[in-house]
Amino acid sequence: MTPSAERAPIAADSALALPKVRLFQLLEACLACATIEALRKQVIAMTQLGPARGSWESAEVVTVRWGLWRDQLRQIQDSRSLERARHYLKRLLRSFEQVKTPTFSDINLCRWQEYDDLWTDSLWHIERRDRSGQHSGHYWGNFVPQIPHQLMRRFSKAGDWVLDPFLGSGTTLIEARRLGRNALGVELQESVAQETWSRVQREDNPHRVQSIVRQGNSASFDFRSMLDQHEIDQVQLAILHPPYHDIIRFSSLPEDLSNQADVDAFVDGFAQVVEGVSRVLQRKRYLAVVIGDKYAGQNWVPLGFLTMQRIQEMGLNLKSIVVKNFEETFGKRSQRELWRYRALAGGFYVFKHEYIFLFQKP
Ligand SMILES: C[S@@+](CC[C@H](N)C(=O)[O-])C[C@H]1O[C@@H](n2cnc3c(N)ncnc32)[C@H](O)[C@@H]1O
Repeated sequence: MTPSAERAPIAADSALALPKVRLFQLLEACLACATIEALRKQVIAMTQLGPARGSWESAEVVTVRWGLWRDQLRQIQDSRSLERARHYLKRLLRSFEQVKTPTFSDINLCRWQEYDDLWTDSLWHIERRDRSGQHSGHYWGNFVPQIPHQLMRRFSKAGDWVLDPFLGSGTTLIEARRLGRNALGVELQESVAQETWSRVQREDNPHRVQSIVRQGNSASFDFRSMLDQHEIDQVQLAILHPPYHDIIRFSSLPEDLSNQADVDAFVDGFAQVVEGVSRVLQRKRYLAVVIGDKYAGQNWVPLGFLTMQRIQEMGLNLKSIVVKNFEETFGKRSQRELWRYRALAGGFYVFKHEYIFLFQKP
C-alpha cells in the first residue's frame, strides 16, 4: 500500500501536524530494522500517522507539507538497499531535529523544501491581488499584499521591526500583523494616515505585534526620534513604495514626491528618504524598493534604474532585481486595444512590469 493510496483526499500542499513524540518513535523503529523488507513495513506505519488528534492533540507537533512528506516516505520505501533507506531516514530525522536559519529570516534551512510558497526567482507573475481581511485594494496606487508578504517572510524574523516610509493604505502594516512583525509607517497625507491607522487596527492581531503610524514628510522625517519614542533600537527591514514620480498625483502638497518638478528633483527627494531610512536600518539587513518607470513625451524614463543607481552610490549593496507583472486595472483593460494601436504606431512597448530592487546594508 502506498502513502498516496491512503491519503488521496489530502491536497499535496496542505499542512499536516504530526505528533512529534510518536513520529520520532516510528523513525527510530524504522532505523532499528534489520532488513529492508521489515523497514518498508515499518514505513507504512508512518504513512498512517495522521494529523495530531485524540490523545495526541495537546502534544507537541511537527508540521509537514503532505505532498513532500508523502514523497519522502515513498523514497524510503523505494530504496533498493537498507543502507540507502537508512541514509534517507537519518536525513529526515535530522531535518526535524535541527534548526538552521539565515541571520535575516526564520526560514529553517534544514527543512527548506517545505517553503515552496516562497519565491526565489527574479520574475514574479502575480495573477490576482489578495483581498482578504483589511486588504481592500481601494487605494489608487497601492501594491499587492503578496509583495510585502514575500519580502517579510524572506527578509525578516517574527518580532522584527519593519519600516514603510510611504505607507499609503497600509498594505505593509496589515501584512506585518498577519506575519507577527512589528511595523512603523509614515505617510505624508494626514487624512490617509488617519484612515490607514483605523484600517490597520481593524485587522486581527494574533501575534500581538505593534503597528505604529505617523504623518510626516519622509524626506525630512526624524526616524531616530520616532524609534526612540517607542524604545526601538533599529529596524530590520525597510519596504519603500514611492510614487512613480508624477504618474499618479497623490496630493497637492509640495513635499509629495509625486509633485516634484522634474525627474531629478524626484530622485533627489527619494534619495533623502533612503538616507534617513538606512540610518536606522540594522547592518546586514534589507531595504526593498518597489517602483515602476514612466513615459515622458515620446521617451521611456527609467525611474527604476535611476533610483537604483542612486542607492548603490550611497553604499548599499544591490542583491537582486525582481521584475513583477502589472495587474491590468479595469480602466486599462478597456483601453487595451487603443494602447496596442498606439504602441504599434509610435514604436514603443506598453508597460506591463515594475521592479523590486533589493539592497543590503553593509
Ligand atoms: C505608491 S503609494 C504607496 C502605497 C502603499 N504601498 C499601499 O499599498 O497602499 C505612495 C504613498 O506615498 C505618499 N507620499 C508621497 N510623498 C511622500 C513623502 N514625501 N513622505 C511620505 N509619504 C509620501 C503618498 O501620499 C502615497 O500614499
